[in-house]
Amino acid sequence: MELLTQSFHMNKAVDETSYAKNSSIQSKIISVTKSVTEEAILEVLCKNFPESMGIADLGCSSGPNVLSVISNITNIIYAKCCRSGLPKPPELRIFLNDLYNNDFNDIFASLPDFYDEMKEVNGNSFGPCLIFGVPGSFYGRLFPSNSLHFVHSSSSLHWLSQVPPELDGTAINKGHIYICESSPQSVLDSYYRQFQKDFSLFLKSRSEEIVPGGRMVLTFMGRRFMDPTIEEGCYNHLDLLAQALMSIAAEGLIPEEKVDIFNTQYYAPCPEEIKLEIKKEGSFVLNRLEVFEIDWDGGAVEAPNTVSIGRRVAKLVRAVIESTLESQFGSDIMDYLFHRYEKILDNHLSKTRSKYINLVVSVTKKSQGLGN
Ligand SMILES: C[S@@+](CC[C@H](N)C(=O)[O-])C[C@H]1O[C@@H](n2cnc3c(N)ncnc32)[C@H](O)[C@@H]1O
Repeated sequence: MELLTQSFHMNKAVDETSYAKNSSIQSKIISVTKSVTEEAILEVLCKNFPESMGIADLGCSSGPNVLSVISNITNIIYAKCCRSGLPKPPELRIFLNDLYNNDFNDIFASLPDFYDEMKEVNGNSFGPCLIFGVPGSFYGRLFPSNSLHFVHSSSSLHWLSQVPPELDGTAINKGHIYICESSPQSVLDSYYRQFQKDFSLFLKSRSEEIVPGGRMVLTFMGRRFMDPTIEEGCYNHLDLLAQALMSIAAEGLIPEEKVDIFNTQYYAPCPEEIKLEIKKEGSFVLNRLEVFEIDWDGGAVEAPNTVSIGRRVAKLVRAVIESTLESQFGSDIMDYLFHRYEKILDNHLSKTRSKYINLVVSVTKKSQGLGN
């Protein structure tokens, strides 16, 4: 069984299929949830102004979104210090986490420009702002105990640590690559079990790293209803990708058996599932849990009319998922596959304007023994 940590990565570099050029949906999600991030940071600073503040962005990837997240956070802290008349802002320790194959070099290379921009916005006395790369899975410990005041993660936690083991290499979910309307109950149960295992480990690991009163804002794909087969937004883009795979299998370009046994390491939880895990783990108080929708193409207004909506959506999905498909089907077939996906999406989106469902969750680490 292949663990996500071994091969998964967003498409690297800056070519047409890269995540850097195809992360407009995630960028939109970051801006839609900015007010929740701001509220959480201001509450950390209301309780006390730490001399040194530990901040982490989990599943940061590479490309423009990484530095836009950190500059948002930094600007919120500096503006608050200024309003409060503090002579000196806290020292910032910023940890950027992602899996081992992430393009950390790309992030590091863009830091000089980031520091220059921060000095322009916040004045020449900006700093110390110390930025660290932390490779590894957020489903486990990444940071020293009691070292973080604010944790952020956007568009990452819907990735499981692995395909549910009961499904791996079996054809129980034949012809599909995630939960769909026709999936047997055992498929739904296996995915839910893997989500529970992963999310509870995530919470436990962060509970050891976040200081009492510290905050965490998590945004990820989800669904509205308990029944995961009801809502199209949570699985349809993957079911259409499964159709593209099956259609090229029918042409003999990939073996159908390979499609039958392939499942994605993805889970879109509903609010009740999140609330239950937070309650069971017990270290965090839930401050907010909101559901919002994003168009499949991120509501792109700037896209030229010459590019069909199917093409735009296919490129956005490809930048994220290509590495997992390559390991099963090989890289040679990818252009052909995503071209077919594009056509299927164009047909689907000519009849309906599909949306992704997203959840934003804001929690506070309890003070030990106080239950709050
Ligand atoms: C769609 S990208 C989102 C990147 C960025 N946060 C943004 O909003 O643009 C998802 C990221 O989560 C990372 N990721 C997935 N599972 C992870 C895990 N277990 N530990 C750390 N990072 C993970 C992926 O490698 C990928 O870079």
